[in-house]
This record gives sequence, C-alpha cells and structure tokens, in this order.
Amino acid sequence: MNVRTKSSNMGLILVLIMVSLLIGSCTHAPIQYFDNTPVVSNSCSADTVYFQNEILPLLNSTCATTGCHNAVSAKHDVVLTDYNSVMHTGGINLALPSESKIYKVLLKSNDERMPPSPAQAWTSSQANRLLTWISQGAINNACLEAACDTTHVTFKASVDPIFQTNCYGCHSATNASGNIDLTNFDQLAILINNGSLLGSIRHDAGYSPMPKGSSKLSDCEINTIAIWVRDTTLTSSGGGGSTGSTCDPDTVYFQNTVLPLLTSGCAVSGCHDATTRKHGVQLTDYSSIMQTGGVSAGNPNGSKLYTILSSGGGDKDDDIMPPYPRAPFTTDQKNIVKNWILQGAKNNFCDSGCDTTNVTFSGSVFPIVETYCLSCHNGNSPGGGIYLRNYSDLVAVANNGKLMGSIRHDQGYSPMPKNGNKLSDCQIATFNIWIKNGTPNN
Ligand code: HEC
Ligand code: HEC
Repeated sequence: MNVRTKSSNMGLILVLIMVSLLIGSCTHAPIQYFDNTPVVSNSCSADTVYFQNEILPLLNSTCATTGCHNAVSAKHDVVLTDYNSVMHTGGINLALPSESKIYKVLLKSNDERMPPSPAQAWTSSQANRLLTWISQGAINNACLEAACDTTHVTFKASVDPIFQTNCYGCHSATNASGNIDLTNFDQLAILINNGSLLGSIRHDAGYSPMPKGSSKLSDCEINTIAIWVRDTTLTSSGGGGSTGSTCDPDTVYFQNTVLPLLTSGCAVSGCHDATTRKHGVQLTDYSSIMQTGGVSAGNPNGSKLYTILSSGGGDKDDDIMPPYPRAPFTTDQKNIVKNWILQGAKNNFCDSGCDTTNVTFSGSVFPIVETYCLSCHNGNSPGGGIYLRNYSDLVAVANNGKLMGSIRHDQGYSPMPKNGNKLSDCQIATFNIWIKNGTPNN
C-alpha cells in the first residue's frame, strides 16, 4: 500500500515538473550546457575512469565516425564527438547508469548492436569502463599521466590498450579502414617496416594523421608505441600474399623501387645515411626522405631530390648528385624518382608474389641491378673494381660465381648489396634462373 501511494505521488511530482518545463520552454528554453572543458587532476587515480583520457577517444574511434555519430551525420540525432553532445544525446541515466542508452546499445544482440556490424563490438571490459564512468557521475574529467613510464613496454600491456581505445574501431579484421587491420600482426609488421605506423601517429608529412578525426595521441602514448617498434622485430609470415596490393606495372612503388635505389645510391656512409646526414639530408627511410629530401609531391621539377640528379642545386656541374667519383644516375634511375614524385610521392608497396615464369635480362634481371647495385658499380671507382653497367658486365660476374655468391651471402664473398638488406628470395631466384638458362641477352 505504502509503496503504491509513494509511486503515485512520484507520478504527480513528475507531471508537475513536466508542466513547468513546458511552460518554461514557451518563454526561455533553459537548454543545459555541459562544459566541454574538463576538470583536470594532476595525477591519474587507478579507480577512476576519465572521460577525456579513455571514454572520449573510444567514442571517437568507434562511434563518432562519418555516417554514424559525428556532428554531420548525427544518426538518430545522436552526436558523440564531445562531452556536451554525449550528455545531451547519449541517453545518459545518472540515476540508473546501466539503463543509459549509450551503454545498453553496446550489449544488444546482433542487428541492433552498436557499433553495428561490420565494426567490432566493444569488449566487455570497454563496456564496463563506460558503465563505471557513468556510475561515477559522468563527469567531464581528465587526468595528467604521471611521469610517462616506459620502462617495461610490452605489446599486451602497453601497446594493445592504446590500439583498443584509439584504433581498432576503424582497423579490425571486419572493419579494415584503408585496408588496414591492426589486429593482424603480418599487416602490422608491414606498417612498422615502411614507417607508416609511426608516421601516422606522429602526424609526419606524407602520412594520413591518425587516429583519424580525433586528437593526436599523447606524447606518452606515441613514445610507448615508438619504443615497442624499436624493440620488436616483427616478420611477415609472407604466406597467402596478403602483404600489400598487387603490382601495377605503371606505378612506381616507394618500398619496392625508390627506397632501394636511394639506399644504394645516396644513403651511403659519408653521404646521406643517418650518421653523416650531409647538408642535413637523410635518405634512409620514407619519413626522413619526405622531411629532408625537398620532395614536392606531384612536382618533380620543384623537388630537389629529383632536380639535383641532373643539374645540381647550383650552377656548377659538380653539384650533381651522386657526386664524383660515383656515376650520375642513368635515365632509367632518374625516371624512377621522377615518376614516383609525379604519382604523389606516396609510401606505397606492392607484392605480386614471385613470378619467375618469364625471366629475361632486360625485363627481370637488369631492373634489379639498376635499383640495388648500379649506383656503386658504375662511375670512376666502382665497388671492388667491378662494373655492373650492362649485359657483358653481368655475364662476367655470373660466370665467375661472384654474382650468386655475393647476393646469396655465401661464405667467401662480400655480401651484396653492400650495407643494404639482402635481396628477396624471389630476386635471388631470378638471377639464378637467368644464369641456369645460359645468361641469355633477351
Ligand atoms: C575513424 C576511423 C579511424 C581511426 C579511429 C583510426 N584510423 Fe587509421 N585510417 C583510417 C582510414 C580511413 C585510413 C585510410 C587513409 C585515410 O583515409 O586517411 C587510415 C589509415 C591508416 C594508416 C595508413 C596511413 C598512411 O598514411 O599510409 C595507418 C598506419 C593507420 N591508419 C593507423 C592507425 C592507428 C595506429 C590508429 C590509432 C592510433 C588509427 N589508425 C585510428 C581510419 C581510422
Ligand atoms: C653501397 C655500395 C654497393 C652496393 C649498393 C652494391 N655493391 Fe657490390 N660491392 C661494393 C663494394 C665496395 C665492393 C668491394 C668489396 C667490399 O668492399 O665489400 C663490392 C663487391 C661486389 C662483388 C664482388 C664480391 C666478392 O666477394 O668478390 C660483387 C659480385 C658485387 N659487389 C655485386 C653487387 C650486386 C649484384 C649488387 C646489387 C644486388 C651490389 N653489388 C650492390 C659496393 C656495393
């Protein structure tokens, strides 16, 4: 009885509140404004869930995306880009936190679930963190990380949580934006090796800034990932050909052609390697090439990296790069750089698998030599006194065994390409097949 009376009293009070709200809205609608400026604590308490540190990045990477709950799409009038909008449109229920719409939709079964398939569902621990945040009052709070502790960086404890909060929403197997699935170690290995993982989170020139559409990771998070990258050797299993797109014959790929060419021709000791950095120019990887090589994407003639190959930076002919006694780049080599810049100077990579059905000297063997060897085996003082300029030069080293010995890194030979990575198995097989076929000039 008692209970019933109480609840009908509650009903009356509610009606009164609603009536007064209605009257209010006829005059001045008192729209509550939730301050987007957070309350910042100087240190992070382990028991508190912070909106700015944890909840907002998670909402941004999984919900506040184009077509869903960003300010433009505002699907079902729900916007989850900032504190004020979350409080207004997220259906937060402070009295009954587990009844909050923003929480309940995470737990729904398949077709009503948010984020909807193909996006990955939130993990139960992520959902629980959201619930805790609401239970703690859904405050716009933030904390300053204590000194960034990077003494024991591991994937599971340090890096994976950053990816969970900021990245997997767009880069999982079922929802691989830009064809990138960060949960796949083979793919991660490629992104690490070609520099785009760090380039994108550091917002380096030439990379798409990540996490897309939200603020940059903290310095501590970036450092954590950088330390893990430095200390981890991920190797692609290489099976299944899932590494990069297939090769388009009209495209010049940075990782396949441009980088090996610059590594063998320019990033050598005393010149543009990481130690010497002559004139501040370092040409060892994509990010330093974009930062110090004077590349203007789409405009080879406005790119120092290209113009210096022909005329030099000044008017003297000895400004030409690579300098004497090295040989200038051949027309083919210059065209590699030129066309890559013309096509947008991207950090791209392709893999067509290993096709050795039609090995020819001009189509298969010499292009590898031009990219990986010629810069050192040409000019006035070729490496080891050995020229690799043309067909007859190559036949000579093929016949005396030095070609296969050096590229296979056989004992008793100097390993080639000198100071560079070993050629791929496919490239080594290509030389081998050409020699087995009797070194034809085709
Ligand atoms: C809201 C969706 C979204 C989020 C969140 C997101 N990405 Fe991306 N990411 C994309 C899209 C889309 C692309 C394709 C390029 C583009 O459109 O900018 C991409 C591209 C990339 C690339 C390739 C960049 C390049 O220049 O080649 C990397 C690496 C990457 N993301 C890593 C991350 C990491 C690491 C995080 C988390 C810190 C993250 N992304 C968060 C959507 C996202
Ligand atoms: C950065 C410069 C550089 C590059 C790139 C380079 N070489 Fe060499 N190469 C040398 C030098 C210098 C020597 C002399 C031996 C030494 O110093 O190790 C040499 C020696 C050789 C030898 C003789 C090896 C021996 O043991 O007698 C062969 C054959 C050779 N290189 C082939 C190649 C081939 C093939 C490539 C490309 C796949 C290549 N080189 C790339 C600098 C280079």
